[in-house]
Amino acid sequence: MALVDTKKMFEMAYKNGYAVGAFNVNNMEITQGIVSAIAEEKSPLILQISRGARSYASMSYLKAIIDVAVAENPDIPICMHLDHGDTFETCKQCVDDGFTSVMIDCSHHSFEDNIALTKQVVEYAHANGVVVEAELGQLGGIEEDVVGLSHEDVMNHLTDPDQAVEFVKRTGVDSLAVAIGTSHGAYKFKTAPKLAFDVIEAIAEKIPGFPLVMHGSSSVLKEFKDLINKYGGKMPDAMGVPEEAITRASKMAVCKVNIDTDLRMALTAKIRQVYAENPAEFDPRKYLGPAREAIKAMVKHKLHVLGCAGKAAECL
Ligand code: G3H
Ligand code: 13P
Ligand code: ZN
Repeated sequence: MALVDTKKMFEMAYKNGYAVGAFNVNNMEITQGIVSAIAEEKSPLILQISRGARSYASMSYLKAIIDVAVAENPDIPICMHLDHGDTFETCKQCVDDGFTSVMIDCSHHSFEDNIALTKQVVEYAHANGVVVEAELGQLGGIEEDVVGLSHEDVMNHLTDPDQAVEFVKRTGVDSLAVAIGTSHGAYKFKTAPKLAFDVIEAIAEKIPGFPLVMHGSSSVLKEFKDLINKYGGKMPDAMGVPEEAITRASKMAVCKVNIDTDLRMALTAKIRQVYAENPAEFDPRKYLGPAREAIKAMVKHKLHVLGCAGKAAECL
């Protein structure tokens, strides 16, 4: 089957209390690791591409890799999504390039400007059969090349549920990324993680059935953090979102959970391990291969955390 959008996935995820994993891809090995995991677990999949990924790997290479994944897995619904589009022009280009979902992220603009730009993207995308995710409220951490809010500020910029209702009504957007205390990257919390589940609850009460998206949802798995630190890396203070919190949100109105940092850390940990244990190694297949396997195992595990393992067929 061809690439799909997220409509059916979100409908089923909302109804049946799970979330679909949205994994960032930047090259062939990352994509293969993710896709072999979902193929084994029979899970729906969102492969997302940031502006950075587009300029790093080029859209034509990434699209060709994803086309192979789609052709080889006809029983799995796969969506190709633009992560954090910043302008109408970027979103339009992605719609024209064959993306089935785009994100317009104007969360750092004023409420009215965010609405105006999102509406413009929704009009163009919907006219071309593509769904749109927008963002309201602000996350912390590093996103593309923009440094977001500090740890201290994150909890003061959560999504306002009443604004979310107005935003959804006025833009016609298909899903909304909400700020509930997460951040991008590997340093999400300095003390015990705290997330605003009440924001999710309040929005779900006001607009039942409307799918929410959780960005900054990597867990910074101990296994990879320890390997990185053991083999010459330096990420002692890295801290992510506890997996119990991801599962809890997935059972609520959160239908899409974004994961990039955990992929990066799995890849980095395995490469560091090979380099350290065999300093003479210089065949890329000998370190990218184990990295790809680590990504596969990690993604398989995440699909159970999200509850979307075994749900491919109902999303077709
Ligand atoms: O939003 C952040 C994602 O992890 C993408 O990161 O812009 O460095 O590709 P990137
Ligand atoms: P992490 O940095 O937590 O993986 O978040 C990724 C993300 O939100 C991409 O949009
Ligand atoms: Zn994000």
